[in-house]
Amino acid sequence: GAPPAARACVASLQPGRRQEWIARAARSGSRVFADIGWDETGRWDPDDLADLEHCDAFLPNAQEAMRYTRTDCPRAAARRLAERVPLAVVTMGAEGAVAVDGATGETAEVPAISVEALDPTGAGDVFVAGFVTGTLAGWPLADRLAFAGLTAALSVQEFGGSLSAPGWVEVAAWWQRVRDFDEQDPAALSRYGFLEALLPGCARPWPLRRAVPTIGFRRP
Ligand SMILES: Nc1ncnc2c1ncn2[C@@H]1O[C@H](COP(=O)(O)OP(=O)(O)OP(=O)(O)O)[C@@H](O)[C@H]1O
Ligand SMILES: [Mg+2]
Repeated sequence: GAPPAARACVASLQPGRRQEWIARAARSGSRVFADIGWDETGRWDPDDLADLEHCDAFLPNAQEAMRYTRTDCPRAAARRLAERVPLAVVTMGAEGAVAVDGATGETAEVPAISVEALDPTGAGDVFVAGFVTGTLAGWPLADRLAFAGLTAALSVQEFGGSLSAPGWVEVAAWWQRVRDFDEQDPAALSRYGFLEALLPGCARPWPLRRAVPTIGFRRP
């Protein structure tokens, strides 16, 4: 009911239920980033998004965004949502993400990184975490989308949700690997050039070995 003071909070909006802590957190200076899930009731009532009035950003996936806005394209949905929240980000799975800043009118779109998706669980959550990181660091909108998408893409290559979220060392290993590709597209690479100043100089060789969750691996 009363989260501790924090620079940022992530709220999972619940259809038909207002959450008072969201307004309280916003009043006490937290930046609130909202996500939402599938509406099992099938109503997709735009009034269910009332708590957006306290949020800084809303990051639904494309299906959710289009249903709540009665649109048939993620970009149109993002524009519509930006009328209700300062920043609307619509994630499009393997297609990447698009964002509209309602205050400045700035838009940005970044394609996803091509990876072998083993387990998409938690991609949206990891995306939000990456986006919050870049926002608190004051990065430009397109860099925030690129970073969030990179962290989410790295996570879907591994089993698990939060367990598969990458750390800086994994991001650094990825950056080192893609830079060393002989036939790398320089324009695609430059989209991630902002990483250069951020990454620890301790990248380990790709692929990294990591702990794997064993839940669900029992033989039938
Ligand atoms: N197959 C993929 N390849 C690369 N990146 C991906 C893939 N799937 C998801 N992502 C990244 O993760 C972001 C969020 O994914 P998605 O749009 O599927 O969210 P979601 O449906 O909310 O996910 P979740 O299953 O966590 O609810 C995408 O914008 C993209 O950057
Ligand atoms: Mg989601």
